[in-house]
Amino acid sequence: MKLWSGMLSGELDKSAEKFNSSIDVDKRLVFYDIKASIAHAKMLGKTKIIKDFETDKIISGLEILEDKLKKGKITINLESEDIHTFIEGELVKEIGDIGKKLHTARSRNDQVTTDLRLYLRDEIENIKKLLEEYIKVILKLANENLDTIMPGFTHLQKAQAVTFAHHIMAYAMMGLRDIERIKDYKKRLNSLPLGACALAGTTYNIDREFTKEILEFDSIMQNSMDAVSDRDYVMELQSIISIISIHLSRLSEEIVIWSSQAFRFVEIDDRFSTGSSIMPQKKNPDMAELIRSKSARIIGNMNQSFIMMKALGLSYSKDMQEDKESIFNSIDNIEISLKVMTGMLDTIKINKSMMLKSCEDGYLNATDVADYLVKKGVAFRNAHHISAHLVKKAMDMEVSLSDLKLEYYKEESDKFNEDIYDFINLKKTVESRKSLGGPAKAEVKRQISYVEDKLI
Ligand code: ARG
Repeated sequence: MKLWSGMLSGELDKSAEKFNSSIDVDKRLVFYDIKASIAHAKMLGKTKIIKDFETDKIISGLEILEDKLKKGKITINLESEDIHTFIEGELVKEIGDIGKKLHTARSRNDQVTTDLRLYLRDEIENIKKLLEEYIKVILKLANENLDTIMPGFTHLQKAQAVTFAHHIMAYAMMGLRDIERIKDYKKRLNSLPLGACALAGTTYNIDREFTKEILEFDSIMQNSMDAVSDRDYVMELQSIISIISIHLSRLSEEIVIWSSQAFRFVEIDDRFSTGSSIMPQKKNPDMAELIRSKSARIIGNMNQSFIMMKALGLSYSKDMQEDKESIFNSIDNIEISLKVMTGMLDTIKINKSMMLKSCEDGYLNATDVADYLVKKGVAFRNAHHISAHLVKKAMDMEVSLSDLKLEYYKEESDKFNEDIYDFINLKKTVESRKSLGGPAKAEVKRQISYVEDKLI
């Protein structure tokens, strides 16, 4: 029997029934639905809307249901329209008609959004923990590679020498902001909609403050129409997850490049790479590629939630039932992506000598040649020009700037002396970039402590 069969015939066309049903998706909310129902029953008892013995009966019935579901003594019947209908039906089976009193002063409209907020509250804690573990592995890699010189790129062209620690710490900073976004989001997520009922509140003297305390919400949603129709919190979390996934995807792209034969900067551990079915020499970065592609799916989910909401007038519309499949999918994918990325980074081998070798033929110290002249009083624009000439010369002779003879330097400017070679030594160029945020060892160590302090 349908919940609404008092008015309508209660018989749905078979395909309409299947189409209308959301239980296969929202069954994930089962224990949150029971938790919110217990709180609601307590509130109904406290306010004398139902009698004390009825409250006790409903609560113990719900607890029995929870226990049976956990032990697998009952399974979720996919014939029910949604998880709320299922739980109510099972409660009535368990304790009889008193169970029907539970739905006093509430509606599935405030119920579903309360359940979803409770569920997301737990999931964001999971995501936050996974981000912390991921950042810790980055810190470990950074600590091990403070002296690992590598080329820094712009436009994927070798630009200036940095260290691997400096490069990878950029991702720790992104992860830190991701955590802060989640913390800030929690303030808006953790507000109680229950008590808004269908849309217009209720004539019963409910006590929303009491329900808020039991369910540990920080605040109460102040307008009942807003409470049942707000899905900002879904769109906001989709956005936050999308940003995390883009950070992971960018790192994945770098891992794909770094592990390629052309670069060989890193070697992915066998546990995180696959071979080819026909080419025995191959070791493929499938995990990084999959993380990269999961971000497409997640951004697609975010778009879906925005587009679903954009033209919905107040208050609840069934369109909103479609908020769950996509947010669940984003959560599942970001959690597995974070786990796999953390494992892959924890076991990755850094090929220090290849990174250093790659710096030798990229004219990465060309800016330092210009800086040398600036320190001797030449204007930067002119110094840049002179340095460009020297790079061109060195390229023609197929030597590095460090191997270019002093006479060629002197041809361009009489300011050059023997000390130019020390000044443009790769290690020196990194070490002398001590500005806040730069790659010098002491500065990267400071960046590591900065992140460590924020993580505590
Ligand atoms: N399954 C529904 C959802 O997820 C629950 C709310 C149904 N409310 C209604 N008035 N039909 O949105």
